[in-house]
Amino acid sequence: MAIERTFSIIKPDAVAKNNIGAIYNRFETAGLKIIASKMVHLSKEQAEGFYAEHSERPFFGALVAFMTSGPIMVQTLEGENAVLAHRDILGATNPADAAPGTIRADFAESIDENAAHGSDSVASAEREVAYFFSAEELCPRTR
Ligand code: TYD
Ligand code: MG
Repeated sequence: MAIERTFSIIKPDAVAKNNIGAIYNRFETAGLKIIASKMVHLSKEQAEGFYAEHSERPFFGALVAFMTSGPIMVQTLEGENAVLAHRDILGATNPADAAPGTIRADFAESIDENAAHGSDSVASAEREVAYFFSAEELCPRTR
């Protein structure tokens, strides 16, 4: 078994709808442990940097505007095969395509306001965790 870390965002739409606790419950039910967590309100520069890989896509401006529209929760999650396990419970990017019972199916309205983010690979997770958390802010679980 591979214990991995992955990075999660509860996006402005889900924070505004008071769904933080309900989404945290999905992580814990899936065996993913929260090892760091905080609320932040991204600047335009922070949002652009986080989503830099999408900077040439037509939706980039709207994505940055949405991600800076209100506070978000950022988390580091730890667990067995955490990257894929988290993507599984997150569901497809477009909530219309997301499997029933997934976070995006249950808490998102549209592809551009889709409730939550999850790293897509171990390499992305390392970059994204480091984008928001210092080493001292991560609290590995020993029990
Ligand atoms: P992407 O990395 O493709 O999806 P995911 O979040 O599932 O890894 O895209 C990043 C975000 O960009 C996505 O969560 C929502 C937004 N987005 C759009 O608004 N429209 C689109 O057509 C796509 C592909 C993404
Ligand atoms: Mg992605």
